[in-house]
Amino acid sequence: MSITINPAATVFHLQTDHTSYIVEILPNQTLGQVYYGDRIPVKDAYPNLTAREERGGTPTWHDDLPDFQPELVKTEYASFGKGDYRYPAFQLTQPNGSRVSEFVYQNYQLTADKQRLPKLPSTFDDTQDDAQTLTITLKDRLTGVLQHLNYAVFPHQDVIVRSATFENPTATAVTLNTAYSAQLDLPDDRYDFLQFAGDWARERHLYRNRLRPGSQSIASLRGASSAQENPFMMLARPETTETQGSAYGLNLVYSGNFNDSVEVNQFATSRVLIGINPTEFAWNLVPESTFQTPEAILSYTSAGLNQLSQQMGDFYQHHLVNSKFANQERPVLINNWEATYFDFDEAKLMTIVRQAHDLGIDMFVLDDGWFGHRNDDTTSLGDWVTNQPKFPQGLSHFCDQVHALDMQLGLWFEPEMVSKDSDLYRAHPDWLIGDPHAELTPSRHQFVLDMSRKDVVDYLAQRISQIIDETHLDYIKWDMNRNITEAFSHQLEATSQLELAHRYILGVYDLYDRLTQAYPDVLFESCASGGGRFDLGMMYYAPQAWTSDDTDAVERLKIQYGTSYGYPQAMMGAHVSAVPNEQNGRITSLTTRGAVAFFGDLGYELDITQMTPDELQQIKEQVAFYHQYRPLFQFGKFYRIDSPFASDGNLTSWGVVAPDQSQGIFGRYQLLNHPNAPYQRQFFQGLDPKRQYTVNGGAEHFSGTELMAAGYFVPSLKPVKGYSSDFSAQLFIVEAV
Ligand code: GLA
Repeated sequence: MSITINPAATVFHLQTDHTSYIVEILPNQTLGQVYYGDRIPVKDAYPNLTAREERGGTPTWHDDLPDFQPELVKTEYASFGKGDYRYPAFQLTQPNGSRVSEFVYQNYQLTADKQRLPKLPSTFDDTQDDAQTLTITLKDRLTGVLQHLNYAVFPHQDVIVRSATFENPTATAVTLNTAYSAQLDLPDDRYDFLQFAGDWARERHLYRNRLRPGSQSIASLRGASSAQENPFMMLARPETTETQGSAYGLNLVYSGNFNDSVEVNQFATSRVLIGINPTEFAWNLVPESTFQTPEAILSYTSAGLNQLSQQMGDFYQHHLVNSKFANQERPVLINNWEATYFDFDEAKLMTIVRQAHDLGIDMFVLDDGWFGHRNDDTTSLGDWVTNQPKFPQGLSHFCDQVHALDMQLGLWFEPEMVSKDSDLYRAHPDWLIGDPHAELTPSRHQFVLDMSRKDVVDYLAQRISQIIDETHLDYIKWDMNRNITEAFSHQLEATSQLELAHRYILGVYDLYDRLTQAYPDVLFESCASGGGRFDLGMMYYAPQAWTSDDTDAVERLKIQYGTSYGYPQAMMGAHVSAVPNEQNGRITSLTTRGAVAFFGDLGYELDITQMTPDELQQIKEQVAFYHQYRPLFQFGKFYRIDSPFASDGNLTSWGVVAPDQSQGIFGRYQLLNHPNAPYQRQFFQGLDPKRQYTVNGGAEHFSGTELMAAGYFVPSLKPVKGYSSDFSAQLFIVEAV
């Protein structure tokens, strides 16, 4: 049993293998947070953890309870307007305009499973991994609206999944102005806030800052989770490192506007809120309707940041990602985008396909430009029909040839977008998002379709299905290259316009749902100008994502290292591209580019028809090597060892280790080669301390303890005439004997 309820049914103790999460019913019949952290024994009550003392200058709940002061109480899902001046978890507007709510405890329900949410990506327990769900229901004395607080406990991954469901059983509509997925009140403020921020081509860089008084947040108002901030965050004790110390991880199963905030108040408590951004949001909770928030994932460990990443990543693979693909090895692909951009036809592509086949590559992905009359980025989005001049014998003729070589085939779509130069726009100008009286802001010459409309989703489902049926494709790269502006739906009532951002993302999920149900064997990779929508909502449907348009091996160290805090490496598309690099002009060796891209879902994105025989041979060897170790690279336990965000960032190292610790591969990357450098050793992690290992097939045997505690000597790089010794990479293959 992972959920224990005391005899009085007032305290709920949620236990995972290593953590405890305790809530209780407070004297005012709301729900209080008691404790979240290392596992502690079950008791009937925890007075030590909820002790109160009266403080001056702040309201009390009631004259009879002078020490019950809302600003000092840790709660589970706070309202605003009753003396707790921190940001609330929800806000509900009554028909008379009042925003006061008085939710009180009603009952609870316990079930021995975890069901998926309808219409939202969500966690599940298909493998009977002992998940349990607790739903605690409260009722608003003022409106009669019900609030269900849902807690799913996944004991073996140390994860608690939270969400809230609002239900209006009354005959009167109310408005939800704020509805977060979870609130977590922590008793002190001695934490660092770890966030993963950036922009196009430099996604998810790690920033670690000490909490300070006031509210600090990461958020998006772009209509997508964004490259600028990612919904994943960690709170760690200042002394916590990769290998030791306490940390919480929080993530959101959502791809739209979000807000994660931590508010440190005058009593040095920390309130975490995670969920839909209350700005650009309101929901009419009409009679007999419900509103379901997305799910928030909460996890805790006292064994350091790397453990936290591993347990959360493991959880996603087993309880969030489309089960069919969760453990399925991902194809090594070649994508024609950086090889040809829009300038291709069937004959040109076939030379790449044949060459790729000779190199052992598994799949060819035809990127942007195969449809309408798209020969640049100004036209044809929305017209998902074959570009006839490029494929005079039809797209399926080309696809058949790829399949005839026994290679898989992928196609690029950007379903949510439309160009003004398109038949779709000419037929349905009202399908665009946009205030009809405003001048619409273009971005990459394109506009956003109103995915809140069923007719738009129907059209896209029909068009994309037809292409899948014609081509028998194996993979779809679903791109999304701009964010929403002039947010306005032609179909929504004036009073419902603030529902658009959420309805938009529900429409995206609806389309994903229809296609993944109808074509369960098609692998989806999500993309948004690279990693602009790299989140758990997408991961539910698309088990992998294009990590960044920045394919430079050096830049990728920070991007992949930063991303690894929140997402497992099987989620990260990682490609070898040409040099000088398209994004920054840097020249790195093919060895280094490969050694970085191996630690993800490997692909090639360069014109292999222009490469020398030596380079082609090297790629062939890389593909064969990756195939040999593919399960390890994609699904091994990922260890961060030397951080590119630390000190001068000159050294990065990481590794993957097999679940049975029989094998590991570690990558070590040095930016600049310094002469007369100090001796260096590579420290490994995750090995079995007692087992004996070889390194790179050498004769000497080392215990796991020696390799982890004392390290492995790394000779300095001797310059070779005519070659740069900067931006070097080394791989260490460690195998048990
Ligand atoms: C985005 C993607 C690229 C490529 C182009 C095509 O930028 O991130 O990988 O697909 O669109 O237009």
